[in-house]
Amino acid sequence: MSDQVTRSDWDQWWRHAVIYQVYPRSFNDANGDGVGDIRGIIERLDYLKSLSIDAIWISPHYPSPQADTGYDVADYHDVNPEYGTLEDFDELVAGAHERGMRVLIDLVPNHSSDQHEWFQAALAAGHGSPERDRYMFRYSEGEPPNNWGAAFGGSAWSPVEPLSGKAEDRDWWYLHMFAPEQPDFNWENPEVHEFFRGYLRFWLDRGVDGFRVDVAHGLVKAEGLPDDNRGPDKWAADADAQIDHGPAWDQDGVHEIYREWREVLNEYGRDRILVAEAWVYDPSRLADYVREEEMSQAFNFEYLEAGWLPGRVREVIDSTMGANARVGAPVTWVLSNHDVVRHPSRFGFEPGYSTKSGIGFDDPQPDLELGMQRGKAMTLFTFGLPGSAYLYQGEELGLPEVTDLPDEARQDPTWLRTNHTVRGRDGARVPLPWRNDPKDTGFGQNPWLPQPQDWASYSAEVQENDPDSFLAFYRDMIRLRGSLGLGSGSLEWLEGASDEVLVARNGQTVLVINMSGEVAELAGVGSVLIAAGEVTESGGVVTVPANAAAWLG
Ligand code: GLC
Repeated sequence: MSDQVTRSDWDQWWRHAVIYQVYPRSFNDANGDGVGDIRGIIERLDYLKSLSIDAIWISPHYPSPQADTGYDVADYHDVNPEYGTLEDFDELVAGAHERGMRVLIDLVPNHSSDQHEWFQAALAAGHGSPERDRYMFRYSEGEPPNNWGAAFGGSAWSPVEPLSGKAEDRDWWYLHMFAPEQPDFNWENPEVHEFFRGYLRFWLDRGVDGFRVDVAHGLVKAEGLPDDNRGPDKWAADADAQIDHGPAWDQDGVHEIYREWREVLNEYGRDRILVAEAWVYDPSRLADYVREEEMSQAFNFEYLEAGWLPGRVREVIDSTMGANARVGAPVTWVLSNHDVVRHPSRFGFEPGYSTKSGIGFDDPQPDLELGMQRGKAMTLFTFGLPGSAYLYQGEELGLPEVTDLPDEARQDPTWLRTNHTVRGRDGARVPLPWRNDPKDTGFGQNPWLPQPQDWASYSAEVQENDPDSFLAFYRDMIRLRGSLGLGSGSLEWLEGASDEVLVARNGQTVLVINMSGEVAELAGVGSVLIAAGEVTESGGVVTVPANAAAWLG
C-alpha cells in the first residue's frame, strides 16, 4: 500500500476543520418553553462564528417521540415541531452559510422510531410481507432468536404480538440494538437503500454540507445472526469490553453502503462529507471507513478514551495517525459529545477510572478543580494536533458534567432499561446557560433537564467580556490554530523532560502537555503562544507546571 493517497480533486476543508456539535434540545431556547429550537440556533449564529469554527453538526432535528432524544426518528424529511419548521431549518442553513460556516446534520440509518410509518405498516401487515422485510423480524419459540443484548440494557429482541395485537405474531420478535422504540432496519432490503439515497438528496437539496452517520458500524449484522460470545448483558461488570463488539458491529458489508452514499454526495460536490460515528477500536479497521470513496472523517474514540495516561495518549496518536495516513485521511479528534461524561469531569478522576455508566449523586464525585486544569490542558494539546477537531456545545464555557441530577429527572433510556442501575448520559445534556440569571438562564423556568444552582455563573453572559474566561480561551485557541495552520500540519515527537511530558512539533509550533506530577522545564522551544495553566518563560527556558499545556513558537 502506498504511504499517502492524495485526494487532490477534493475541496479539503474538512481535513483541518473545527466543528461544533449542537445538541438542539439543549443548545438555545428561543421561545422559553424549556426545549431548545432551531430559532434558538439561528439567534446564536454570531456567537458560533465568534469561535472561528468551520461548521456545525446538529444532532437529530426530526420529528421524534424522543425515546432516545431524537435518535428515534419518526419522519426523516421534516423538523420536530417542538424545534420549528422546515422554513426555520432553511433559514438556519442560509444564515450559517452567509457567515462562512457549513452545516452537517445527523443521519440515523441503523434504526427508525417505532412510530415511523414503515414500522407501523410492518406491524399492520402480517409476517412474510414486504413491509416487514424492511426491518429485522424473526421467528423463535419461547426465547429471543439469539442472545444479543441491546446497548441500553436488556435483550435486543422484543416480542411483536403486544405491539401488533395479532395472535399470529406469537413467537415473532423484532431486533433493536438500542431501545425497543428503535427497531433496526434490514439493510439487505433494496428499498431501505433507496429510501436513504432519497433522504440524502432531500437534505442535500436544502443545502446541507454533510452528515454525521449515527452508529455507522452497526447497519449490517453478521450472516445468520449468530450468538454473541460476550453474552447479552452489555452493562455487566466488564462493560467496557462488551459494548460495540461482536456480530452486530463493524461487519465488512457496511462499507458498500458508504460507497453508495459517496456517489450520491458526489453529485452535489466533493466538498460534501460523511462522518462516521463508529466505535471501532482497531485503528486500521476504523481507517477503512475513511477510505477515499467512503467517508471523510471518523471520530477517534480511542483517543477520547485514552484518559490522563501519557503513554497511552501518545500510542493512540501514533497508531491512529499511521492508520489514517495509509488511506490518505486525517484524524478527527474529539474529547466530548452527548454520549460521554464531559471531559473536565472525566479528568477529575484517577486515570483509568471508568465513567462509562455516567455519574449519579451517590457515585464517587470528580475532583473538579483538577479536572478543569487537566481538561483545559488536554483540550489545548488536542486542538494543536493535525487533523480536524470537534467540540461539544458548552465545553467552550467550561461546563462540567452535571452529576447531581435527581434520578426522577433522568431521560436517558439506559436508566430505565437497566432497571435504574446505569445512570447514563443526561449529565452531559443539561441545557446551556446563556444569561446570568439563576431563575432563567435562557430556557425559561422549566428546562427539560434541570440545571444546577450555580449554572448561571458559567453563562456566556458572564464570560463574554472576561479575557480570562474559558470562552475567551476557546476563541483564542481556535483562531490561533487557524492562523498557525496546525490542522493541516504534521507531527513529530520531541524529547520531553520525562515520559510523562509530551512534546511534539507541528510545523513551526511546539505542543507540550505536562501529564506528570512535577514541574517540567524545556529549553530552546520558543516562547509561549497560548497556555492552559501558569506556563512561564525566562531566559529561553519554558516552565510548565503539572497539568498544564502550551503551544510554543
Ligand atoms: C449514537 C448516538 C446516541 C444514540 C445511539 C442510538 O451512539 O450518538 O446518542 O443513543 O446512537 O441512536
